Formats: sequence, structure tokens, C-alpha cells
Amino acid sequence: MKNISVAIDGPAGAGKSTISKVVAKTLGLIYVDTGAMYRAVALYAIQNGMDTKNADGALEKSLDKISIDIAYQDGEQHIFLNGEDVSGIIRTPEVSMGASNVATLPCVRLKLVELQREIAKKQSVIMDGRDIGTYVLPSADIKIFLTASVEARAKRRHKELIEKGTSVSYEEVLLDMQKRDLNDSTRAFAPLKQADDAVLIDTTEYDFDASVDKILSHIKENMK
Ligand code: DC
Repeated sequence: MKNISVAIDGPAGAGKSTISKVVAKTLGLIYVDTGAMYRAVALYAIQNGMDTKNADGALEKSLDKISIDIAYQDGEQHIFLNGEDVSGIIRTPEVSMGASNVATLPCVRLKLVELQREIAKKQSVIMDGRDIGTYVLPSADIKIFLTASVEARAKRRHKELIEKGTSVSYEEVLLDMQKRDLNDSTRAFAPLKQADDAVLIDTTEYDFDASVDKILSHIKENMK
């Protein structure tokens, strides 16, 4: 049977990863979080004192030294940076902004997109990111653009960070999110953008279960 691919794109905090994990489990797909790959590259730059915008060319020169792998343990994606599991430490606000910066660099994108396409070739996936439907998997079977108002997204992300014990104000999270939205949607190469053939789902007024239901029913209807 042919491998199925579902592309989920949208801005930070729209709920792509939490929703995709449930959808993956329900439909027996592999969930691929591509943002984690950009985060791992940003972590490498930060740990090695490099500018995440590559102003001096140091990050680009080091790309060959960065090896990114993903593996699945109990159905959860784990990401490895040069052999070390960095799944937990890539979730800080500093790495989030750094990831948005490294994601503007074509050299980084080309390296990671190759890996993403390899993964989708081997199995049925639900892949989330910013450019999956427009660039990584332009022939994906199903394309969803998931969004919500920036205030709703910041509120959800703030709650998540507080629950994890990160001390940060709602205003800081909102400002970071606005900066990342702008950075992600205005970059020259493969920016955040709804694909022409993607369905738009706005979860501002939905809770988590309603968002999952909406997406599951859209996928089931369109996979027939
Ligand atoms: O989904 P996330 O918040 O973990 O992504 C982190 C950053 O990586 C985000 O600001 C934009 C970038 N990104 C991207 O440019 N393309 C992707 N396919 C996934 C993420």
C-alpha cells in the first residue's frame, strides 16, 4: 500500500504538535515534528557561541559537523544532536527564537528538508512545520493550515511554559510569538504560508478535543 502523508503547517502555538500526536496515534501514522530539527541546529549554534543568524558565516561552515537524527521511543519522537538526546532542552524561549533565526538560512533548510523527505518516503506520516505543504511535501495527500489568533496562541504557550516551571510573563510570550510570526512568514526561502490546496482550520474558539475532532474528520473524509 502507498504511504500516506499529511502536512500540517501553521504559526507557533497553533497546537500543531499536540494535535498531530493524537491524530498520529488514532490513525497509525508516524508523527514528525520538523520544528525540533531547526531547534536542534539552533541549540548547536548557541552551545558553540555562534550567531544563530549566521552573520559571520560560522554556522554555515559548521553544518557538516551537525548530525541530526530522530528516533521513536514508545511512539514519542526523540531528537538527537550529534548522538545526544536533546528533546527536552530545545524547548526554551532562547532556543525557540534561535530556531526561527536558523530557519531563515537556505543552507540549514536544504539540509533538514532532505532528511524530512527521506523520512516521509519510508512510512506514512503526519508532518508538522511551516513549509511542509508548500515545499517539503508538495504532493502530500492532505494539507492542513492550522492557525489561531496570536493572543490565543500566546495564552496556550504561556500556560505550557508555566506548567513546565519556566518563569515567564504572558506579555513576553506574546512578544516572542509576534516576533517569530513575522520572522517565519517574511523570510525569503520557504516562508510560513498556506498552500493553495490546504484547508484552513482556525482553532481560536475551539478547545483541544474539538480541534482534534475537526482535523480527524477532515482527514478521514479526504482519505477515502
Ligand atoms: O514548530 P516550532 O515552534 O518547534 O518551530 C521552531 C522554529 O523553526 C519556527 O519558529 C520556525 C522554524 N520552522 C521552519 O521554519 N520550518 C519548519 N518546517 C519547522 C519549523
